[in-house]
Amino acid sequence: MSVFECTDLHYSYLGRFPALDGVSLRVGHGETVALLGANGCGKSTLLKLLDGLLFADAGTFTAFGAQVTEDKLEDEQFNQGFRSRVGFVFQNSDAQVFSPSVREEIAFGCLQLGLDQATTAERVGDVLAMLDIAELADRAPFQLSGGQKKRVAIASVLVMNPEVLLFDEPTAALDPRTQFWLIELLEQLRAAGKTIVLATHDLDTLPDLADRCVVFSEQHRIVADAPTADVLSDRALLLSANLIHARAADRGPAAAREPRPAVVSVYAVEGMTCAACTQKVGRALRGLPGVTAVSVDLPTASASVTSAAPLGPEAVRGAVAAAGYATDGTARNQTPA
Ligand SMILES: Nc1ncnc2c1ncn2[C@@H]1O[C@H](COP(=O)(O)OP(=O)(O)OP(=O)(O)O)[C@@H](O)[C@H]1O
Ligand SMILES: [Mg+2]
Repeated sequence: MSVFECTDLHYSYLGRFPALDGVSLRVGHGETVALLGANGCGKSTLLKLLDGLLFADAGTFTAFGAQVTEDKLEDEQFNQGFRSRVGFVFQNSDAQVFSPSVREEIAFGCLQLGLDQATTAERVGDVLAMLDIAELADRAPFQLSGGQKKRVAIASVLVMNPEVLLFDEPTAALDPRTQFWLIELLEQLRAAGKTIVLATHDLDTLPDLADRCVVFSEQHRIVADAPTADVLSDRALLLSANLIHARAADRGPAAAREPRPAVVSVYAVEGMTCAACTQKVGRALRGLPGVTAVSVDLPTASASVTSAAPLGPEAVRGAVAAAGYATDGTARNQTPA
């Protein structure tokens, strides 16, 4: 039995703005599936359908062997069963966090599911520790930073221990260290046997995040459904789906076409004061041999570098110095090779 079975789903907002045009998709237990496609192709809409927040105009959606409809979700028992098995982490955490304190925010879902206070408190404690946010427990969620809110939003979903996790652009707008943390968390969830469906534009982290990719065209249809490595090596597909840009792809072996990146390292960079500085540092690091992707973050003054093998501190120091900035070249965070 599949976790999800979507057959010929059609959906338009207000009957006028098409978002899904005949989407069929099966997701099996324990799979990690990435939804890829240009802005507006329908990824978030599909996630909302999978979470029973929207309902298709036509086609059928089955979860855990039972058809999911608006009428069925009005049945309290069906609703609780479905909600306890599927959790959704929104792209915008502001849309997800609303309680006066982080602790209450995380407890909310458990209490909705009818768990008693003692069990809820125990689960909240576990999740606070797991996501390393115990010190935020009594803070107001709306006063937290974007990355902190994201952790709270994830905690409020994980606390219900759902079998299936839906993530909308999980790594967007996170600093390199938090992105790295999130990728590790997703890897742990995957190893724990969770089924994960996520929407993303981030091709660099894709091999770490998903076994399989479903690619949407800008016409809101699925144009490919294949193992991640196959999708990433199909340049024509990536170009046609607006996932890579022709000029960027022509510059050389794009990260998107590289095999699984071996190491992601995060370096502290001093002296950057503006977006132009981050571009200079990015360009310099991208020029190092074996580097497939670089992102430089101004607020945290750090650079995240994906490379085929660990870079020597000398090489990193040299590249950053040549751009006019400073680093000790020591990785603060590094994925295992
Ligand atoms: N609330 C809404 N009202 C009207 N149209 C909407 C609404 N939400 C989305 N749409 C439209 O539905 C289509 C699909 O949007 P959706 O948000 O699913 O795209 P997406 O693939 O998630 O894009 P992005 O990568 O930008 O997040 C778009 O054309 C969008 O304009
Ligand atoms: Mg979206």
